[in-house]
Amino acid sequence: ADAPETIFVERRDRVGLITLHRPKSLNALNRQLAREVLEALKAFDADDNVGAIVITGSARAFAAGADIEEMANLTFAEFYCDDIFAPWDELRSVSKPIIAAVGGYALGGGCELALMCDFIIAAEDAQFGQPEIKLGILPGIGGSQRLAKAVGKAVAMDLILTGRTIDVHEAKAVGMVARVVPSNELLQTALEAAHTIAGYNCPAVRMAKEAVNVAFEASLTEGMRHERRLFQAAFATEGQKEGMHAFIAKRAPVFRHR
Ligand code: CAA
Repeated sequence: ADAPETIFVERRDRVGLITLHRPKSLNALNRQLAREVLEALKAFDADDNVGAIVITGSARAFAAGADIEEMANLTFAEFYCDDIFAPWDELRSVSKPIIAAVGGYALGGGCELALMCDFIIAAEDAQFGQPEIKLGILPGIGGSQRLAKAVGKAVAMDLILTGRTIDVHEAKAVGMVARVVPSNELLQTALEAAHTIAGYNCPAVRMAKEAVNVAFEASLTEGMRHERRLFQAAFATEGQKEGMHAFIAKRAPVFRHR
């Protein structure tokens, strides 16, 4: 594949790092960027040397939304037939944890991308919002669904209908954001969290992610059944034996990454 032009892709130890890089448009999510992010994610998901993934932007913007210039003249038929946002749906098939490290603006599609990740670590200066309504449209890559599930109806309606932006403390208070850190510690904190995750029993990590995601799709009965099967399946992994025997022997576990 050609080298990506809208993102930087690198590996730090067992962490895959994707940095959005369209500085002239505050990392607006155009079609090329969507394609390149998904290609990078799939490559990391398939790479045994990677245990967790971080997506970040610049200090000024995680991403200021879908690319308005690219979209402005599109017709219904073009959007519908080309299903232009379809690549973003594929992010759900990534089985390794993805952390969004958010500084600056996370607006529209940028906020939605952050919400698509498994959790968000945000800098003090992060700002979140779904301003699509001001452009005569509405969220299009999952915002209405994921925001409602993440923060409940009242806050989701407020943000999506008024288009107002919230600061990181409000985002933390409503449960969108897992951790708030000083801006200069953002990437380091996210990489450390990802590194910690990447050090655990890889199948158990994927199962844990799968189990939590089932909570958003299934009834409690179905979700409990799913969790119990995964829990039982964890006993078929080498990592479970290692983790428990290491505990009993009072030594640190060493997980092999399969
Ligand atoms: N698409 C394309 N270009 C964008 C952009 C976007 N979403 N956001 C910012 N830019 C561009 C600006 O046009 C500007 O370009 P020029 O320098 O060539 O003029 C450059 O990035 C810097 O932006 P500003 O000069 O506007 O910077 P600012 O600091 O004054 O304001 C901002 C920052 C508040 C984020 C403002 O840029 C803004 O409101 N951006 C649009 C946010 C938005 O509406 N996002 C939703 C998009 S629709 C969507 O995302 C649909 C979906 O659900 C997927």
